[in-house]
Amino acid sequence: MAEFETIIYEKQGGAVYITLNRPKALNAYNVRMRDELYEALGAIKDDPEIRVVVLKGAGEKAFCAGADLTEFLTAPAPVFAREARFARDVWGLFLSIEQPVIAALHGYVLGSGIEMALCGDIRLASDDARFGMPETGLGIIPAAGGSQTLPRTIGAAAALDMLLTGRWLTANEALKLKLVNRVVARADLIPEVERLARKIESMNPMVIRYVKQAVRRGLDLPLAEGLALESRLAKSLSPAIRKNG
Ligand code: COA
Repeated sequence: MAEFETIIYEKQGGAVYITLNRPKALNAYNVRMRDELYEALGAIKDDPEIRVVVLKGAGEKAFCAGADLTEFLTAPAPVFAREARFARDVWGLFLSIEQPVIAALHGYVLGSGIEMALCGDIRLASDDARFGMPETGLGIIPAAGGSQTLPRTIGAAAALDMLLTGRWLTANEALKLKLVNRVVARADLIPEVERLARKIESMNPMVIRYVKQAVRRGLDLPLAEGLALESRLAKSLSPAIRKNG
């Protein structure tokens, strides 16, 4: 895989750790990061050896302070439109990853930082994490899926509260709203995420992928179709397990 500039891609056994790596700019999401994430996620999707993915941010201050304001909001309109189209591809790819994605959130988690975490499946936050969706105040709307993934995760009222007012949440408020699964002390964040990743890695990878698929795809289906999906997956799992060990 190519050497990346804005992310660190580390494969450790069956786990991949992706670190957003622009700490001087609070890991703001720029065009380069978008392209590099696209490449990394594509590699993950195609690699049957990868059983779990961890997403984290470099530096002390932030998981990600949102879109890079020096790039995304200053580009001329056609360029911006092109970038928006590419950006959707990244989020579509992110959401289509079959392996579980765990997000380790610390410090500032803003805008596309939250949206990136929402593309994942399990979100752990350290007690210093702060969450906000500043887009409306900047005269834009979320473009990394946030207008859809946020209300599906915390409900429409809480999502609109964040989106319409720009209100920030503490880690414990985010926990109450189920934006994050767990809050831990800052020093425990990475060890706890690594422990979770190892736990998932130790399980049967087909079972893990199927259960993620059942939940993720099922959420977009009426109950009867979701139950049919579950039934289909359960029936196809036994031979698949026999074949793949
Ligand atoms: N895009 C580009 N650069 C960013 C950035 C962003 N979204 N967020 C922070 N940075 C840069 C700052 O410009 C600064 O760079 P500098 O050291 O070269 O001056 C560096 O990161 C550190 O940020 P700073 O503002 O000094 O840290 P702070 O602790 O005082 O404030 C924030 C942190 C997150 C409150 C503040 O940086 C901020 O409001 N950032 C913008 C958040 C935002 O609106 N994101 C867009 C969402 S759509």
